Amino acid sequence: MEFNWTLGLVSFITLFSIILIGRKKRATVAKRQPPAPPGWPVFGNLFNLGAMPHRTVAGLATDYGPIVRLKLGSVNTVAILSAKAATELFKNHDLTFVERTITETSKSHDYDKSSLALAPYGMYWRVLRKICTVEMLVAKRINESTAVRRQCVDNMLDWIEIEANSVSIGNGVHVAKFVFLASFNLLGNLMLSRNLANPDSKLGSEFFTLMLGLMEWGGHPNISDLYPWLKRFDLQGLRRKMDRGMGRAIEIASGWVKERVEKRSKEAGQRDDDERRKDFLDVLLDYEGTGKDEPEKMSERDITIFILEIFLAGSETTSSTIEWALTELLRSPDKMVRAKDELEKVLGPNQKLDESSTDNLPYLQAIIKETLRLHAPIPFLIPRKALHDTDFMGYHIPKDTQLFVNAWAIGRDPECWENPNSFEPERFLGSKIDFKGQHFGLIPFGAGRRMCVGVPLAQRVLHLVLGSLLREFDWELESHMKAEKLDMRDKMGIVVRKLEPLKAIPKKVTKC
Ligand code: HEM
Repeated sequence: MEFNWTLGLVSFITLFSIILIGRKKRATVAKRQPPAPPGWPVFGNLFNLGAMPHRTVAGLATDYGPIVRLKLGSVNTVAILSAKAATELFKNHDLTFVERTITETSKSHDYDKSSLALAPYGMYWRVLRKICTVEMLVAKRINESTAVRRQCVDNMLDWIEIEANSVSIGNGVHVAKFVFLASFNLLGNLMLSRNLANPDSKLGSEFFTLMLGLMEWGGHPNISDLYPWLKRFDLQGLRRKMDRGMGRAIEIASGWVKERVEKRSKEAGQRDDDERRKDFLDVLLDYEGTGKDEPEKMSERDITIFILEIFLAGSETTSSTIEWALTELLRSPDKMVRAKDELEKVLGPNQKLDESSTDNLPYLQAIIKETLRLHAPIPFLIPRKALHDTDFMGYHIPKDTQLFVNAWAIGRDPECWENPNSFEPERFLGSKIDFKGQHFGLIPFGAGRRMCVGVPLAQRVLHLVLGSLLREFDWELESHMKAEKLDMRDKMGIVVRKLEPLKAIPKKVTKC
């Protein structure tokens, strides 16, 4: 048969085109980016964020679905807004998003280089995380400091009572302020065996004020992060403030570290480890690397930054959670009564709440879970970024894209939670759902490799503090305030907290 050149050519071109179109189509499918709301030139979606970004970004799920792309200034960002998408992320893509976004203020005095929360996923992070999970924040070590925690909480209850007696009738006390002071002291004792929030300690008070500043400047939205080429102008002056505050905080904390090093070397030989409770500082100073590539010792600088980090991570998160829990209970008096009745039933009329009783207080536990579901203190977790280009649930996400996991939105995901916006601790009674990183609809502490290391401690402290506040006082709203009028708005910082601080009246419970 004679070869038909025309037919041959047409078939070749058709085949070639089919292959080309196929490849192009495949490439287009792979490059499909998550949907995005329309943005502005230069600003991108900055105006979509508003004053409460976790809420506005959560709202985008209605129009754009559970994975939304945002351009924040010049920064490509993807937000995860549903429990299903979070499940996929933590089960199958955790490693891709294991690195953190580093902000400009966190680079102050090279804080980010020694920080556990910001460290690259490598040996330093692994070693520090192991020290936390194997040596510091484990049941044995936490149990050793039970009495210290009780003391800090007793002091808090006394301060609240004194304050309540000093304000005029009908006015309340700023509860979160006292919880914050107690958390600060509690962490100071765990780490350094020191009461820092103590009016007699001038250095402690200065350190306390400095840490408040670091939290404020570190949590403030910064133009330098949105347009990195503007960073050298430091237009809001945040880096300058941070440099000043961080420098002094490091100076104070490193003084404490040096003091301890000297004390230990003086006591060397005569020190009996069993005599004194080992605090976190001892654990860090005792560390000796064993594995290949591990640092032999922790440097004094790394230890100092770690100390600052624990204060930043553990104090405001705790006080914000307690403030919300009490606010929600004041709005639902029947739930307040139920929680107090449970305490009375388990502890009898006179016994103080101790940590070991918490296991027998399922309603108190449910209140803490429900509070964290509705009011995750770090609503976007600590932002992560993509290590490399990746496909996520059918979308292409380029390397270095910033990732917000919106724990606030996920806690209110209607596909996961019935009546998602109502405060109903009862939903957790008899349920196995908890916040330890296995249930992706409840992730106030994050999940996966970068999940919060402080959960075992936070869990104890939250129950102890809230339980003690309910046990020792009957709580009422200020005389001019109605429960339904309570301001439930929040404001963004490193930690999201109530915009209007809760003021409530504590009435000491009389015991028989
Ligand atoms: C109510 C209390 C607390 C809440 C809600 C909370 C929440 C969080 C969240 C959301 C993260 C990021 C997780 C992620 O990206 O997946 C985190 C990380 C972290 N938290 Fe907490 N936290 C609390 C208390 C504490 C305490 C008491 C400590 C220390 C004693 C602590 C130490 C840390 C550290 C070191 C990290 C960084 C972990 C890493 O990057 O590997 N947190 N926390």
